[in-house]
Amino acid sequence: MAYRVVVLVSGSGTLLQALLDAQAAGALDARIVAVGSDQPGCRALARAQDAGVDTFVVPMTTLLPRGSAARQAWDEEFARAVDACSPDLIVLAGFMKLLGEPFMRRFAGRVINTHPAMLPAFPGAHAVRDALTAGATTTGSSIFWVDDGVDTGSLIVQEPVPVHPGDDEDTLHERIKVTERRLLVATVNELARRAPAGDPTSV
Ligand code: GAR
Repeated sequence: MAYRVVVLVSGSGTLLQALLDAQAAGALDARIVAVGSDQPGCRALARAQDAGVDTFVVPMTTLLPRGSAARQAWDEEFARAVDACSPDLIVLAGFMKLLGEPFMRRFAGRVINTHPAMLPAFPGAHAVRDALTAGATTTGSSIFWVDDGVDTGSLIVQEPVPVHPGDDEDTLHERIKVTERRLLVATVNELARRAPAGDPTSV
């Protein structure tokens, strides 16, 4: 029985593309059953559609304040949409919203995230810029289990990436993403292999 993965995205989706390419090449020990987003029309959704993968969107184009009733309602609707895909694993691949309590309660222990820094260094939404501003000579990529904090969950894997003289945010981020794509595919495969085998009688 396939290990069911839902990928959540907000932007360009090059990490998602690495998973889709691995799946197309028969090199993913899991099945990407759906791709979900908060951003209608983002490039990542088009990548999923081009690969024939189901997509869903619960739009949040204007930031709803955390703790507000509207944000709570969005969280619940988003959680319902993910739940409908019966995921074994939820992969945040450039998903740029914090998922609230209703979501995390429902999917605790099943959500991983990618981050373009060596956590706990440079958490938050501007990790690459923050590393450059701090004058770091090395940064990196981390994959971790999501908990209730901001980039605080337990690490699964991380790998350093050098900062080159003259790097700007784009050149450094692209170098980090090359590492992130490889680590993400390897991590999904490792988690799928470690998952208990499904019921062989079910389809
Ligand atoms: C990746 O670098 C990922 O680690 C980062 O967004 C990028 C997505 O790239 N995520 C975060 O910063 C989450 N805090 P992509 O859209 O090209 O896949």
